[in-house]
Amino acid sequence: MSKQTDDFFKNIISHAKEYGFVFPSSEIYDGLSAVYDYGQLGAELKNNLKSYWWKSMVQLHENIVGIDAAIFMHPTTWKASGHVDGFNDPMIDNKDSKKRYRADQLIEDKIYRYEKDGKTDKAKQLQQDLDAALAVDDLARLKSIIEEHAIVCPMSGTKNWTEVRQFNLMFATQMGAMADGAEQVYLRPETAQGIFVNFLNVQKTGRMKIPFGIAQIGKAFRNEVIARQFIMRMREFEQMELQFFVRPGTELQWYEHWKEMRLKWHLALGADKAKYRFHDHVKLAHYANAAVDVEYEFPFGFKEVEGIHSRTDFDLKQHQEFSGKKLQYFDPEINQNYTPYVVETSIGLDRLFLSVLANSLVQEDLSTDEKSDSRVVLKFHPAIAPVKAAVLPLTKKDGLPDKARSIMNTLKLDYNVQYDEKDSIGKRYRRQDAIGTPFCITVDHQTLEDDTVTIRHRDSMQQERVAIGELERIIGDLVSLNKLLKQLM
Ligand code: GAP
Repeated sequence: MSKQTDDFFKNIISHAKEYGFVFPSSEIYDGLSAVYDYGQLGAELKNNLKSYWWKSMVQLHENIVGIDAAIFMHPTTWKASGHVDGFNDPMIDNKDSKKRYRADQLIEDKIYRYEKDGKTDKAKQLQQDLDAALAVDDLARLKSIIEEHAIVCPMSGTKNWTEVRQFNLMFATQMGAMADGAEQVYLRPETAQGIFVNFLNVQKTGRMKIPFGIAQIGKAFRNEVIARQFIMRMREFEQMELQFFVRPGTELQWYEHWKEMRLKWHLALGADKAKYRFHDHVKLAHYANAAVDVEYEFPFGFKEVEGIHSRTDFDLKQHQEFSGKKLQYFDPEINQNYTPYVVETSIGLDRLFLSVLANSLVQEDLSTDEKSDSRVVLKFHPAIAPVKAAVLPLTKKDGLPDKARSIMNTLKLDYNVQYDEKDSIGKRYRRQDAIGTPFCITVDHQTLEDDTVTIRHRDSMQQERVAIGELERIIGDLVSLNKLLKQLM
């Protein structure tokens, strides 16, 4: 990361904390590694993003329904899904610093350094060696690569490494009292399995006909070996997943459909198209016949925000085998029973949140010949802004606060609105800019005479005088999710 992008990333983190978007978890106890809390504005922004996703998936599609499955699931679920045996990362410890690393990431960092030093051939060869070792889970080979390339611990600077071991990323806990013979259960590492095990329940009770989808938003937990980059890689995070069940043989058409839909969904939020790209998986998981990441250009480079996977009939077949319950669909159009194929879209809400913050945070120079000035603005799409409008009496006297409060009381039935009477009007505008409020409504003495107010637009800073009766229409028009959703139809 260049110094400039590093500074920008640090600004995002400190802005998120200063204005109540994201706090380190249990900070008074010095925090908990890779766990974060969303503050008063972060929770609003997250809810708005969830609402945009849920409405675009469930409300706009007659053939998609949403569920809310439990975090705990029968432990056999995770045997069937392959997570107990295969949800691992290769880890290695440095004996001097006692620090733990992901072996593949240490090697990737070395590849990056070779590239930066212009040693392209070496970088390519190392990438090939790494891919070959990972493809067959050859842990001894990962260790020998680390030795051959003299990779040192970033903390101690030594090459005093342990062997490479597999580390399962699932959190396990006990359910029930010990005396009763407690059972080991897991905190789900993905929400998808809650959908697969409910496939028949939903299909039958909802009388769903293929193709149809089941959507879900919920927490997932992974004991990441190393978690870094703020809310990018956390141990507790949130996913928004769709499993779309299709007739076998049609899955690749649906895969292309969902790729296009999902990119459209991201772009509607207002980011530049150049900030997104697709990254096809070269090495497919054993159950997939196509997979792609939707990547966003974060300050630290292009990284995955969403995965789109054609998962074949792997999951349903596995659950059928492990549960002994038939998980099939009778297709009246072709008069056949079959196990549906699945196309999955899986987006990390926290990564989306970070991409939206990174895309919106702007430092604007407003200097004139007379004075230097600047402002920090979060240029959120109005439909996802945590606060839609601020109502500001110009002064604290002459009945202006009462008038402002009455406007606020009308607007708050529909929108999240703030009232603020402290400090100069200029300072109050800046405070609202910094949290991304699209509109500031100022109540002045003229308001008392003719029931008009000024409305200031965040991005242009232009002000216009409008009748109070017009406010709901003007604000509603611009902050409504409908506008975003219409772009997807
Ligand atoms: N059901 C498929 C699945 O879970 P994944 O690629 O492992 O696929 C999907 O995860 C998305 O979840 C990723 O694109 C990412 O946005 C998010 N995600 C995964 N691990 C994460 C973590 N440790 N912290 C934050 N988000 C994470």
